[in-house]
Order: sequence, then C-alpha cells, then structure tokens
Amino acid sequence: MENNRPSWTSRCSFILAAVGSAVGLGNIWRFPYIMGQNGGAVFLLIYLCLILTLCFIPLVAELAFGKFTKKECIGAYESVNPKFKFLGMLNPLTGILISSFYFVVGGWIINYILINFSFSQITDFSGYFSDFIQNSYAVCVYTLLFLFLCIFFTARGIKKGIEFANNILMPLFAVIMVCLISFSLTLPNAYLGLEYMFKPDFSKINGQMFLAALGQALFTLSIGMGALLTYGSYIKDDKGITKSAYTIILSDTFFALMAGIMIFPAIFSFGLEPNSGAGLVFVTLPYIFAQIPNGNIVSAAFFILLLAAAITSGISILEVDVAAFSERLKISRKKACTMLFGIISLIAIPASLSFGVLKDFTLLNKTIFDFLDFITSSFLMPLNAFVLCIIAGWFLHIKGILFTRSKFLGWLFDIGLKFVVPAIMLCLLYVGLK
Ligand code: PHE
Repeated sequence: MENNRPSWTSRCSFILAAVGSAVGLGNIWRFPYIMGQNGGAVFLLIYLCLILTLCFIPLVAELAFGKFTKKECIGAYESVNPKFKFLGMLNPLTGILISSFYFVVGGWIINYILINFSFSQITDFSGYFSDFIQNSYAVCVYTLLFLFLCIFFTARGIKKGIEFANNILMPLFAVIMVCLISFSLTLPNAYLGLEYMFKPDFSKINGQMFLAALGQALFTLSIGMGALLTYGSYIKDDKGITKSAYTIILSDTFFALMAGIMIFPAIFSFGLEPNSGAGLVFVTLPYIFAQIPNGNIVSAAFFILLLAAAITSGISILEVDVAAFSERLKISRKKACTMLFGIISLIAIPASLSFGVLKDFTLLNKTIFDFLDFITSSFLMPLNAFVLCIIAGWFLHIKGILFTRSKFLGWLFDIGLKFVVPAIMLCLLYVGLK
C-alpha cells in the first residue's frame, strides 16, 4: 500500500501546494480583520515574532511526521504506537469541522463574484450582506458549489488535481494581488493605511493580542489538523524539510502583509474604520469598490483572488480526510470524495443557515457557524498541535533526524518541541475554553 502512495512531482510542486494550503481565507479575510480588531501595527509585530520563530517548530514537526511515516494521519500516529490511533483520528475530524464553516465562506465568495454583474444596483452593502446570509436557498447552493469545486480537484489525485489546481491558481492569485496592491497604493491618503499597519502604538499592547496572534498563526499556517502531515507524507525522501518550512512561513507571511497593504490603504483612503470584524471583506471593501470608476472590475478581481486562495486551502483540508478514508477503508479516491461530500454537506448546510433560519439554534451559546469556528480554532487545532509536538518530540525523536549538522540548533528545536510549544498550546487551550 505504502509503495503505491502518490508523491509530488518536484520539490517546487510540494512547496506550491503547501503555500497554497497556508495562504487562504486566513490571510485575506481573517488576518486583516483580526489585525483591525487588535490595534494594527502592534498586533502585526507580535504576530511576526511568533510566526517567524515559535511556529517554525510545530510546522517542521508536522511535515517531518508525515515525511518519515509516509502515512495518512491515523496511520502515522498508529505507526508510532497502536494506542495513539485515536489521536490521529482527531485530525480528519478537525478537517471535517473546519471545512464545514470554511466552505460556507467559500460559498459567499462565489456569490460576490456573481453579483458583480449587478453591482451598480446595490447601494447598501451592509444590508445586502445581511440579507444574503439569511437567504437559505442561496447560501446552501453556494456552499455546496464551493464544496463541489474543491472535491472536484481533490478527486483527480495529487498530480492531476492538487498540483494542477495549485499550478494555475497560485500564479493567478499572485498576479491579481500585484494589480490590486498597485491600485490601492495610488488612492489618495493611502499612506494612512500603511501608517496604521507599520507604526506601532505600544500603549495598546495586551495579553489578548498574543493569543489572537498565535491562534491566527496556527490557522494561517494550517498547523494542527493534519494537512501538512498529509502533504508531508507525499514528499520523496530527498527533500529538505527545514528549508521548505521556512519557505512556507515566509511566503505565508509575505501574502498576509500584502493582503494588509492591499486592504488598509483603501479603507483609510475612504475614511472607514478597520475594525468592522468579519464583514470587513464582504461589506467595507464592496462599499469602496462601488465608489471607484470600474469598481466592478476591481471587485471581481478581488473576489476571484479570494476564491483562488480559498480553493487551494480547501483542497488541503479535504486531502486529510480523502487520504485517511481511502487508505484506511481501502477504497478509491473517488469513493472517498463522494463519502466526504455527503458528510461535509450534512454539517456545512446547517452551518450555512446559521445566520438565517437556524440563527436561534445554539451550541454553547454560539450559532452553528461560530461554534464550528470556535471548537476548531480554540480547541481542536491547539490540542492537535500539542499532541503532535509531544509525539514528535518524545516518541519520534525527530530532532536527531532533522538537525544532523548543528547540535545547538537541534537542542534548541528539541526544547521548543518537547516543552515550550506544548506549554504554550496548553495556555491557548486554557484561555480558549475559559
Ligand atoms: N491556512 C488556511 C488559511 O489560511 C486554512 C487552513 C487551516 C487550511 C487548516 C488547512 C488546514 O486560510
């Protein structure tokens, strides 16, 4: 079975796919609004410190875990000790839960691409957004459409599906981003947005910012649900893990910064507030697009960019489950994808209705959508990252395999993997669940 496992065509394809997984709604939708809610430049500084140092450790551990075991998540944990099988199962479970709310947002994006044809008729974007997310029929159809798009690529396999999608969508994403940044930076008073991003006001610092930054860093790097473990398991033996990890971190950080540079100058140029939360991309930006000449073209470009990023991440979330289902149950990828389509629809449809007919149905005082976001970002992802570090550090002893040249770096990495990151994940869990 293991010998029949697919592998990446080249190191470049692997990096592109891993960056495609990392760069997604987390960078363009979530990062600007979390930064906007947490005081701008100080948050960015904390975020950069965390993502460039601490997050390297679980990222390397997850890739290495996959690469060395050459198995999907459940098999990878099982191969360390059969008793750890259930720990591995948490990953595909997290994948199903994340996809169930992530794909709802994917559906919103498809709608926003389509409304560009009737863009000029909309005057009140806040009202439009709240009407749209309450429209049961529309949100269900678009969620399923987005799910179908991602499943379509995943079902075609590693080379013909995942690599193909990333090879087309990631360059498209980069080109559209460059165009939008040049546009945003030439708006009047664009410098105010840059000042907001890069001029820290240290009086605003608080503990909550560290947690928000760390949660965002885990989410954006796709750490803690097995996506990188699964992608890592398709690496051929001669590929360097630590170098790849840094490339992934630097690219993801670069794209998050670029998303900020694309969005904040436009917001400040129009005298709007950057702290409007999750609606920033769906309410504030369309309002700006409507004010500028040919705004519908800029808007279409922006939402196509967002869709491209969301699909490449969505594919990586699905791959965790497709690999687990097909390899464990010994069924074809296509069958695994069909099963997954059914399972995810069952959760994603109620999640998509959270703002409309099911808005009064709550779990832990949260709508289904918010509950899925909370349970995955505040509980399952930090828990999986904790388990991953413990198993990789204490049972797999990966430092010995990874850091053969520098003893000091190996030692530093080992301390981080065995003690520092697990302790921080426990804090994140504690605060998240409090
Ligand atoms: N990193 C992706 C993003 O930024 C989301 C994601 C989370 C993808 C977990 C895979 C696994 O949008």
